[in-house]
Amino acid sequence: MDQRNFYIETYGCQMNVSDTEIVNSILMEDGMQPVDEPEDAEVIFVNTCSIRENAEERVWNRLKEFKAMKRERDNQNMTVGVLGCMAERIRDKIMEKEELVDLVVGPDAYRDLPKLLADVSDGQKAANTLLSLEETYADIKPVRRNDNDVSAFVTIMRGCDNMCAFCVVPFTRGRERSRDAESILEELQQLSDQGYKEVTLLGQNVNSYDDGDNSFADLMYKASQVDPEMRIRFSSPHPKDFPEELLEIIAEQPNLCNYIHIPAQSGNNDVLERMRRPYTREQYMELVEKMRNIIPGVTLSTDIITGFCGETEEEHEDTMSLMAEVEYDLAYMFAYSERGRTLAQRKYEDDVPEDVKKRRLSEIIEQQMDIQEKRNKKEIGRRHLVLVEGTSKRSDEQLCGRTDTNKMVVFDREDYEKGDYVEVTITDCTSATLMGDPIKKSSIEEFEQETVAA
Ligand code: SAH
Ligand code: SF4
Ligand code: F3S
Repeated sequence: MDQRNFYIETYGCQMNVSDTEIVNSILMEDGMQPVDEPEDAEVIFVNTCSIRENAEERVWNRLKEFKAMKRERDNQNMTVGVLGCMAERIRDKIMEKEELVDLVVGPDAYRDLPKLLADVSDGQKAANTLLSLEETYADIKPVRRNDNDVSAFVTIMRGCDNMCAFCVVPFTRGRERSRDAESILEELQQLSDQGYKEVTLLGQNVNSYDDGDNSFADLMYKASQVDPEMRIRFSSPHPKDFPEELLEIIAEQPNLCNYIHIPAQSGNNDVLERMRRPYTREQYMELVEKMRNIIPGVTLSTDIITGFCGETEEEHEDTMSLMAEVEYDLAYMFAYSERGRTLAQRKYEDDVPEDVKKRRLSEIIEQQMDIQEKRNKKEIGRRHLVLVEGTSKRSDEQLCGRTDTNKMVVFDREDYEKGDYVEVTITDCTSATLMGDPIKKSSIEEFEQETVAA
């Protein structure tokens, strides 16, 4: 049986996207070929996410579709494998449930894939969901297969030790460990050589990065020196330990982007305590002010959960008021979804009714859309350096790309191309997008000099 073509469908966060690129590399080393459609593959992988109930439901439904596809092929020539965060949590259920899958591999066991696939070829089911204290895949060269050859993700650490009460990630991905800075900087150099213009450094809690010699601030400084024309972003830091030194480095280095994702989760101190988020609203606000003082023009985004265990109407109002006070440029907002094994599941009752969670979620979303529109309107008339990512969704005649501050801008194509830095004047906006007039092709260095001079 020829099992040499593989297809991977990726769910969940940027970390999973980055992991898929690691799996591509491991399988291609083993002589397999990636394909873009499941129909063309003998081996189909779903790289899964467990963060909320609906993320898992989507995967179950997809697995059922693949099972039907397998039946159409008379159960021949088709292996279905589950990778990622669901693998770790519900390995037995996955293997038994209607015999949906042949193979289950957790996020720290991808090096084992060739061997496990061989076991499956011999007619067995195979699984490795062991978590590791060391695995960082530092030596593996990710194979990036999307047509976005402008920006790339680079994983700098794996796992999470924070144990926020609501969160399943520490269980699915295990203990925190950092990849050595040298291998990260080498990868950045290679990306720069290949023409990439933007890199996002990934970890569940990047400010606890520590490879024994370098802190996250050290790493960011070194990353900024690899290629002054390559933008560096990062996701995500935790509000509990954001060093001032890092803010200063971001402010000083023109290619370190002036955009920070700083998840608050809630605006109420009792809720934060129940969530095991070790900061208060007041400390969080102090951090926001410090960010805005040290990095003028910085944009901020957040993650918010509504309807966490025991959340009262007043506590919800505190989240509304925090969001109004900060005025985030972007927010990722979710209704609380109870996850097995977490502290919240063991200790608290998931007692906010579903319709109340949803109503509170709608309220924060509605308020946030108004705030975003208001903040975007302030951009009209300003000049930004936009890194072109490609053609705009709405029209072939227009390009889109992001500002240093992570705002999406759409403008007329003229003679500009993907990967160009274009100086743009903002002319109009919605709550999600800015519209602009292109002025000229530029560079980080040139734009910086003009801005300092002005
Ligand atoms: N490590 C990242 C978060 C990864 S999960 C960080 O701390 O920034 C992304 C977001 O999903 C979290 O910030 C949180 O807002 C949300 N989330 C996590 N668990 C959740 C749950 N059980 N229900 C609803 N939202 C959740
Ligand atoms: Fe989850 Fe908290 Fe870790 Fe983020 S920091 S991954 S929310 S436990
Ligand atoms: Fe989901 Fe795992 Fe990421 S649970 S959000 S894919 S770390």
